Amino acid sequence: EMTPEECAFQDRIDRGERIEPKDWMPEGYRKTLIRQIGQHAHSEVVGQLPEGNWITRAPTLERKQILLAKVQDEAGHGLYLYSAAETLGVSRDELTEMLLAGKMKYSSIFNYPTLTWADIGAVGWLVDGAAIMNQVPLQRTSYGPYARAMVRICKEESFHQRQGYSIMMTMARGTADQKAMAQDALNRFWYPSLMMFGPSDKDSVHSAQSMAWKIKINTNDELRQKFVDQTVPQARFLGLEIPDPDLVWNEEKGGYDFSQPDWSEFYEVLKGNGPCNAERMEARIEAWEDGAWVREGLMAHAEKRAAAHAA
Ligand code: ACO
Repeated sequence: EMTPEECAFQDRIDRGERIEPKDWMPEGYRKTLIRQIGQHAHSEVVGQLPEGNWITRAPTLERKQILLAKVQDEAGHGLYLYSAAETLGVSRDELTEMLLAGKMKYSSIFNYPTLTWADIGAVGWLVDGAAIMNQVPLQRTSYGPYARAMVRICKEESFHQRQGYSIMMTMARGTADQKAMAQDALNRFWYPSLMMFGPSDKDSVHSAQSMAWKIKINTNDELRQKFVDQTVPQARFLGLEIPDPDLVWNEEKGGYDFSQPDWSEFYEVLKGNGPCNAERMEARIEAWEDGAWVREGLMAHAEKRAAAHAA
């Protein structure tokens, strides 16, 4: 049973009002947002690693500049999102410590390696494409700071998606070897990209409550379907083949029927057993430890200034 306060809160949500940091909110709403926004922020930061891997090996100066800018954007997205989470009463340090202690997650997709330059194309095209599909509706999420952070993030993500597609286009129109590399990248990133949307609706733990609170606007399966429908024609335009023999247009539903990813693989990756989980966590722990002196220096500086101001 809902308390009168909870009823009033749900009414605000149902009317489409935005919830702001100082408004009353149920503890579950706050916790769900911290989990989702925190996980989202961690994903943006960890997501820099597979792409950062190729900055020194980008094939041209122009591609290198673009990739550098894109990876920096991801850091910025992480910062907007940590700031949004902080309005819920959790600090960025606490969130980071939870991640490093294995108490928070980041997106499964970043536990896959980027083996060739074509993978950078596939990541931009598919991974950022999936990210936008999920994030555009989140611009209308009920929590104000999260919704507003999404506006700018989506603009930048759409640039990222296009730069990835541009790499794929160059590779697909290149030599036979380059086209084969593009196809190989698509083969390896297709199912992990489908996993980004989360488990199928029947196995999604949080969807029902999160949708009632309008923290989520669509179900995992709805967004996955939209992603497939958008991406198949893009693959055809490239002359590449989606690695799914059962992919077929379904006239009745107005969308493609497609094979599900291997969900046991998804759960293994979530448990820490993906190809790069250990490497990603090591990189985050190392960065956190290497940055300790910067954080301490900034604190000491702030304390000195506060003391001077008080004197
Ligand atoms: N990777 C890692 N964990 C996942 C993923 C995924 N792709 N999908 C679902 N999960 C986890 C959930 O966090 C949850 O575990 P938890 O209870 O320990 O947190 C569990 O699997 C069950 O899933 P759901 O009940 O469906 O979880 P939820 O309602 O949170 O939906 C979703 C998952 C769709 C990812 C949602 O959290 C969301 O929209 N997040 C914001 C977007 C985001 O995080 N994007 C990051 C990747 S894109 C990028 O950064 C470039």
